[in-house]
Amino acid sequence: MKTLVLANQKGGVGKSAVATLLAHYFAQHGQRTLAIDLDHQGNFSKPLRLSDRPELSAISADALMTSTPAVVPAMPFVLVSSGAGLLGLERQPTLHNTFGRNFRSFITGVDSQFDLCVIDTNPNPDIRLIAALASADFVLSPIQLNQEALDGVAALLNHERVGLRKIKAVMNPKLSLIGLLPTMVESTPFQRENFTGLVARYLSLLIPVGSGAGQFGLIPKRSAIAEAQAADEVLWEMKKTAARDAWKEIEPTLARITTIVTGHGGDHGARL
Ligand SMILES: Nc1ncnc2c1ncn2[C@@H]1O[C@H](COP(=O)(O)OP(=O)(O)O)[C@@H](O)[C@H]1O
Ligand SMILES: [Mg+2]
Repeated sequence: MKTLVLANQKGGVGKSAVATLLAHYFAQHGQRTLAIDLDHQGNFSKPLRLSDRPELSAISADALMTSTPAVVPAMPFVLVSSGAGLLGLERQPTLHNTFGRNFRSFITGVDSQFDLCVIDTNPNPDIRLIAALASADFVLSPIQLNQEALDGVAALLNHERVGLRKIKAVMNPKLSLIGLLPTMVESTPFQRENFTGLVARYLSLLIPVGSGAGQFGLIPKRSAIAEAQAADEVLWEMKKTAARDAWKEIEPTLARITTIVTGHGGDHGARL
């Protein structure tokens, strides 16, 4: 099993939306998929539950940290939902090592049960994020094209406690950054300018998609994506033309990420 964590210490950048799209995409492409929601807001659990596609685990995600061993259903698509207990974990610092150990042994324990695991995280730099990154193979960082977010990339990489480089150096040498994924991209002059700025500063952290130079993975801002997230539908099964158009735009990006996490992408040059 390969584990992918969606991470960025900012809220509202599209982490949960991308996690939802990827979980459905993986599952529909024959990957045995485990979805874990570590954010108490549950914005990954909710659309997956509404879609009625994954089997629900009886335990919620906080139990993966607080108890051992945790067992999930033997089904090809399983959701471990967000739980209220997730909020209390940070307030028990003496147990953080135990939480991290439990989570890691859970991930190791389901290694042969699933092909891919998608973990959505909360934006706080806390034990949930650390435990997820410490157990992951890949991290994908959705990012919005505004100055504040671009300035935040340095913290994403170098934050004292949860910076990706720090986690890789101290806890998890196998951690690989798939890259920065611009989300909610609009074709305004302002966003185009910020995209140019992102390419100039972080070219090596973008995800090449397609054959042309300068083609990078991104998720445009489309109301159909938000609608799918709020309803019981999978984006590419929605009947509306707008949903089909949105799907055509993002499918190459999801396909690229899939080839990377399944190990069919060759060296994608992930750099940390
Ligand atoms: N590509 C997109 N186009 C339009 N709306 C989006 C897109 N991605 C996310 N949204 C919406 O923006 C809001 C925040 O997205 P969300 O995925 O919950 O962010 P995060 O998990 O980073 O906090 C949600 O209402 C979501 O439906
Ligand atoms: Mg979220």
